[in-house]
Amino acid sequence: MNATAPLKIYQPEATSAIEMRDFNAWFAEAHILRDIRLSFRENRITCLVGPSGSGKSTLIRSINRINDDVGNYNCSGEIRLSNQNILASGNDVAKLRTRVGMVFQKPCVFPTTIAGNVLFGIRHLQKLSRPEKQTIVEENLKAAALWKEVKHRLQDKASSLSLGQQQRLCIARTLAVKPEIILFDEPTASLDPLSSRAIEDLMLSLKEKYTIVFVSHNIQQARRVADDLAFLCAGKLIEYGSSQQLFSNPTQEKTRKYLNEEFCDC
Ligand SMILES: Nc1ncnc2c1ncn2[C@@H]1O[C@H](COP(=O)(O)OP(=O)(O)OP(=O)(O)O)[C@@H](O)[C@H]1O
Ligand SMILES: [Mg+2]
Repeated sequence: MNATAPLKIYQPEATSAIEMRDFNAWFAEAHILRDIRLSFRENRITCLVGPSGSGKSTLIRSINRINDDVGNYNCSGEIRLSNQNILASGNDVAKLRTRVGMVFQKPCVFPTTIAGNVLFGIRHLQKLSRPEKQTIVEENLKAAALWKEVKHRLQDKASSLSLGQQQRLCIARTLAVKPEIILFDEPTASLDPLSSRAIEDLMLSLKEKYTIVFVSHNIQQARRVADDLAFLCAGKLIEYGSSQQLFSNPTQEKTRKYLNEEFCDC
């Protein structure tokens, strides 16, 4: 292994849910992501790691196109979902966001009840009867490992929950929309260790049904949770592969240094 070793292209044996091809992103004149080629495997957790400012959030936010809402953002290349380029003009962004859900760093509950939060994303989609709504609330709170804690207080304000519970409620709200892919951008950054572990366990259970892309600052957390790992530095993808391979035998010296010492001199 040495710093100049050629970058091994990871050949995933599982089907890819998302493929980024020669993806570049800019904020005004600043070139933030450079020639990213990366695939995210179905029913796997791919963790993006890298120093602060390396472009992890920009990358993950490009997958559901919420960067588009930032005025000075521009991008090129392709992001393929079900073999269609989601960046193509005319692509239905609202529909894309039902397929690609997102959970943010800080739990962001809406100023309504616990049940109302679960139903929030589907309130306009269909006319649901009361029993149907109850079933959806129960199913998704169960899937988010929150049901037992809140089943007797579904009409309480969501803001009365603890932060860890609020984050699981945000996950239930995301699941209710029935996405295929869930993006998590540092979902445990504002939580205590016990609540963080609950979210980690939840992600591990969710990958049976969903493809998960997960940004973490915490290398130990990435080691516990990730199937695949992508290391970004200064907007470049330094290395991508199975988590086991990157931790045990990375091809790039930069990867080894970052994963072992959290140091990067890019
Ligand atoms: N809306 C914006 N306008 C201009 N520059 C931005 C904007 N958002 C992000 N950037 C810049 O893009 C670069 C990458 O930011 P990004 O948030 O993607 O990094 P990150 O790897 O997620 O960092 P962190 O680990 O601190 O969350 C940074 O230099 C940042 O300042
Ligand atoms: Mg970030």
